[in-house]
Amino acid sequence: MSLKKVLVTGGAGFIGSHTAVELVNAGYEPVIVDNFSNSFPFVLDNLSQIVGRSLTFYEADCNDKEAMGRIFAKEQFYGVIHFAAYKAVGESVQKPLAYYHNNVGSLVVLLELMAEHKVKHLVFSSSCTVYGEPEKLPVDENAPVQKANSPYGNTKQICEEVIQDTVASGQELKAIALRYFNPIGAHETSLIGELPIGVPNNLVPFITQTAAGIRKELTVFGDDYDTRDGSCVRDYIHVVDLAKAHVRAIAYASEQSETSLYDTFNLGTGDGSTVLELVHAFEKATGEKLNYVVGPRRSGDVEKVYADVTKSSEVLGWKTEISVEDALRDAWNWQLKVKDQVFEPTK
Ligand code: UD1
Repeated sequence: MSLKKVLVTGGAGFIGSHTAVELVNAGYEPVIVDNFSNSFPFVLDNLSQIVGRSLTFYEADCNDKEAMGRIFAKEQFYGVIHFAAYKAVGESVQKPLAYYHNNVGSLVVLLELMAEHKVKHLVFSSSCTVYGEPEKLPVDENAPVQKANSPYGNTKQICEEVIQDTVASGQELKAIALRYFNPIGAHETSLIGELPIGVPNNLVPFITQTAAGIRKELTVFGDDYDTRDGSCVRDYIHVVDLAKAHVRAIAYASEQSETSLYDTFNLGTGDGSTVLELVHAFEKATGEKLNYVVGPRRSGDVEKVYADVTKSSEVLGWKTEISVEDALRDAWNWQLKVKDQVFEPTK
């Protein structure tokens, strides 16, 4: 019997590459499409090393309907997991149209092609950013979506609506939006991990680059929040746990008897850590001392957000298995592997 093929857009990226591995582990056939706008070709070789064979890959832009149409016609997908998107909050404020064009446009192209080629299962990368500063914590999937504070965040909200409207129109589509909290860590083999381009915006790559001596010190953005130690609270989830949820979501969608459905699930651990707790957990997990200073708040940051994972656990049948300490150790091992390389844009 031939394996079910799943299109993984952005499959050379951080979360996409880990999901490709988990798809193979679960008996699916990932087909990767990436344009290397924020990723690197060597990731594909490393992926082959992990799974023990090469994976089908196409270099294409998901906004290129003709190119994507040829891939759809050739591969006959069972489902699509759509990761390919721009994700830098600050950059999205400078270049909103690039974000709307890339993030929203590519989803529309994929949904059109899914209709044309009768592909019925979609998993979409959404974000806890849709909740803004939640009124109730932990935040569950019924919490109101709040006005986005960046074009990036707005693209995630719009994409969720585009999918909902498509499902409501009667297209035979079972779509799951996964709202990620803060993905960290790397594969235990240290063959794939996060590759921030230039100076990292996100906390954990900044921590590992500081410990590696690439950055002089970490600035903790604010210690005057109303939290245990004054620094912001987030829900940090290991990327392999996150990847497994995508595989589960494809299976979940196919198990449902409806022909059209849309649902959302939080992907987090359910526990929040402060920035300072994460710094100390990193020191404990790795034995490295971290230089840090406390600086002013970063504009746009929410004070605390962590997931209510009841629905993911009870309905999706998924929960995290890897601790934050192990995630930080994996992130550090990955940093040691890439050494002091700082990645620059390929395009
Ligand atoms: C950010 C985005 C979110 C996006 C996610 C993944 C915002 C408001 N949110 O989440 O929409 O989905 O990235 O790309 O930008 N921190 C420091 N020092 C640093 C870096 C971060 O103290 O050098 C703190 C931040 O203030 C925050 C925490 O670490 O409290 C996590 O920051 P980060 O990794 O950037 O993720 P988010 O801001 O939660």
